[in-house]
Amino acid sequence: MSAEIESIMKKYRPGRREDLIPLLQEIQDENGYLSEDIIVKAGNFIGLSTTKIYGLATFYDQFRFLPAGRIIIRICNGTSCFLNGSQNVISKIREETGLAPGQTSRDGLFSYEIVTCMGGCTRGPLLTVNDDYQLNVKPGQIPDLLRKLRYIAEND
Ligand code: FES
Repeated sequence: MSAEIESIMKKYRPGRREDLIPLLQEIQDENGYLSEDIIVKAGNFIGLSTTKIYGLATFYDQFRFLPAGRIIIRICNGTSCFLNGSQNVISKIREETGLAPGQTSRDGLFSYEIVTCMGGCTRGPLLTVNDDYQLNVKPGQIPDLLRKLRYIAEND
């Protein structure tokens, strides 16, 4: 485990189960994903079994257990975006990519995640491609967006 991850863990006190989710989030922000080794270390630190940690972490869509793709699509499913139809956009992404949230395509190109509120509630559904915001996204835009992203990535 890297020195950065060791130093993140040192910010927390061992054995505090309520720290599990923020700890995993901070480690993922640093490492990009939660490897098996990290899950085991976090389990020992917090005092939970590896199985329990996986069970809890998979409940939260933001955690990734494999390295992310080159293009990370994040779709907001917070209350406002939900009311504006984010579920239809999510279904379309899933239909087009075959991926569940947190998965990465076999070619390592796409990952997608579901998040809760990115601060643009009045202009949702909101989606980001890496850090680039797309507002008022409609399901019908998704196939074209994915095609363009693939083309750009393959010719980059
Ligand atoms: S609910 Fe989607 S940006 Fe706030």
